[in-house]
Amino acid sequence: MNISYVEKTDSFWIETENTTYVIGLADGCYPGHVYYGKKLSGETRNTLDPRSVLRLTELPFSPAEKPGEKVTFLDTFPSEYPCGGIGDYRESAIELTDARGFTGCEFKYESYAISKKKQELRGLPQTFGKNSMTLTLRLADHLLKAELLLSYTIFSDSDAIIRSTRLINRSVGPLYIEKIYSASVDPDWNGEPCEMLSMYGTWADERHIDRKPLRHGRQYVTSTRGITGHQSQPFLAVVSPQTTQESGDVYAMHLIYSGNHVAGAELDPFDHVRMFIGISGEKFRWKLDSGESFQTPEAVLLYSAEGLGGMTRRLHDLYRSHLIRSPYLHKDRPILINNWEATYFDFDEEKLLNIAREAAECGIEMLVMDDGWFGHRDGDDSSLGDWTVYEKKLPNGLKSLVDRVNALGMKFGIWMEPEMISPDSDLYRKHPDYTLQIPGRIPSQSRNQYVLDLSRPEVVDRVWQQIEVILSSANIEYMKWDMNRPLADLGSAVVEADRVGELAHRYMLGVYELQERLTERFPDLLLENCAGGGSRFDPGMLYYSPQIWCSDDTDALERLIIQEGTAMLYPLSTMGAHVSICPNHIVGRTTSWSMRGSVALAGTFGYELDITSLDEKEKGYITDQIAVFNRFRALIREGDYYRIASTAQNHTHDCIQIVSKDRRESLAVYVQTKAIPNARTRRICLKGLEEGGTYAVDTVIDGKEFDGEDVEFQAEHTGSELMNSGIMLPALPGDGRVIRIHLRLR
Ligand code: DGJ
Repeated sequence: MNISYVEKTDSFWIETENTTYVIGLADGCYPGHVYYGKKLSGETRNTLDPRSVLRLTELPFSPAEKPGEKVTFLDTFPSEYPCGGIGDYRESAIELTDARGFTGCEFKYESYAISKKKQELRGLPQTFGKNSMTLTLRLADHLLKAELLLSYTIFSDSDAIIRSTRLINRSVGPLYIEKIYSASVDPDWNGEPCEMLSMYGTWADERHIDRKPLRHGRQYVTSTRGITGHQSQPFLAVVSPQTTQESGDVYAMHLIYSGNHVAGAELDPFDHVRMFIGISGEKFRWKLDSGESFQTPEAVLLYSAEGLGGMTRRLHDLYRSHLIRSPYLHKDRPILINNWEATYFDFDEEKLLNIAREAAECGIEMLVMDDGWFGHRDGDDSSLGDWTVYEKKLPNGLKSLVDRVNALGMKFGIWMEPEMISPDSDLYRKHPDYTLQIPGRIPSQSRNQYVLDLSRPEVVDRVWQQIEVILSSANIEYMKWDMNRPLADLGSAVVEADRVGELAHRYMLGVYELQERLTERFPDLLLENCAGGGSRFDPGMLYYSPQIWCSDDTDALERLIIQEGTAMLYPLSTMGAHVSICPNHIVGRTTSWSMRGSVALAGTFGYELDITSLDEKEKGYITDQIAVFNRFRALIREGDYYRIASTAQNHTHDCIQIVSKDRRESLAVYVQTKAIPNARTRRICLKGLEEGGTYAVDTVIDGKEFDGEDVEFQAEHTGSELMNSGIMLPALPGDGRVIRIHLRLR
């Protein structure tokens, strides 16, 4: 790892273990993007002249004019941080309006600093770590009297570059930020075809991988819902058409933020690519008073020459080492049973205790009481905001229930939805002004609820008091923080007219403030974020919670696809995954216990069913699943993840593999999702093993549920054989059949 300034060529070199990123200065003042990609040799620092690649003498748009005029220059210049309104007509990273109403800004290089300390961002989720270096470029617009700090941080054990931007208003009047991205990069694609990879989804169907040729013009994914949303992910990658799981170029960007975002790419007519990511500029307008500064969220930049799998493993390592703070990160999380799909709103103390009792007997470690325990909540139409125990359901109070659950040897967890308010609640009757609203217009309801105006500090304080009282009232060791609707009616009872555009970001800052207080005040609490399933599965949330509920769809087949997209970016240890009952409540499909257990294995593992309604045979399956999870939970949490086959693509089978960091142990989980006629033996090549090592291979083919016995056999194979020649797996009768392959280096 190194960051240096090379005086001879007036350039900045950011070097990680496998990549190099070079910034050059055109005319000594325009920071330009020189190079990002495979690591360049040390000697290149003396030979690469940034001026030769910064397109300083491109022709103007009309050949009659002389080259080098400002508009011509800026319109093709690979800008490190493109400013809007002065001649670069591609996607800009920053747009400002001054107090006179004029737009346009031109930030020119002033100075740089290289430090061995990463700056802390106030109020935002962020990466951290000791062995780091940061380059800060200080730019200034002398007319606006504004300063821009572009920051680039690297860690000794990662190829990621963390970028963020800070704007400081040094003028006497206000400045209005119309848009300010976290990062923009112009990787030169040499006119070769390239593709954009992003994610899309809906409720119960999140994070489908979308890969399409990048067309000329701008393409982006975005959220204007005030949350990350089921519909998109603050992520994009530009890849070449040849890029596979294990080879080919990948340029990726991921935003450490949970609110409105945009992530996009532009292919200009000369086939130059620009990538950008940040808070969405739509409906955003921030008034920056004299002397104030605005800090963007951090963006993760990654280049991988080892395909999508290389990107995935680097992101997983970055998040595990430099983003997730929870003390549970490297610990066993309790195997939980959640009563949502078991009872929905229809439960009481006895029902919960019966579930806990039977769950404890099967080896489940924690009961989570979901929605419906507070106010007078019997459905989704009341009581959000009234965080006091519903005595009809819990007549002996919360502490008594928790004590009784603890007495069974089980931990206790609770569900809350702190950001919401029901129209039918005491809180709303007392403080109707606490909701996000456009005064004079009745706010729109979604799931019969309004959103609290967390842009207001007094509302944040009020919510915090309620959370603190509940969590202090009993031995609560886990909290599921839910959020079940997007923001709408972006207004506030108290906001000034020229600050309305700040509300969505201020709302997010309010949420982060609450979660920060929560983690500080209850450091041992295991927090799981959730938003109507996986609507806020983003790097921002990982800073506060080590796990996030992946999706409300617990159907094993759908989950394979949702978890494939999720695991492309996030460590398996972060994915909330549970076994539920069949027919599945969302899609009505019946899948085998074996398949359900194997799919949940690749996540935090738990149950979402009424265990009291199961027969002994079914409870036996649960005990078996737990035994398997206990055997592999540390490996799954800590290991490297490889995707071997994708049922989203082939529609017949799925296979993932986890390899321990020292490559001594590995687990491959193969699921035959669909039996096909006249099927043949399938060859599977594993990955990430020691080429020269010999592995003891234990293979288990499930059978119990399929009128047979589980078949187990042992063999020995070299890593080279397993990865290149592969192993042959039988075609099995029936859907949802599972083969588990466990390898240990001899
Ligand atoms: C949405 C969550 O994703 C579910 O797991 C459940 O907690 C419900 N909300 C409860 O309202």
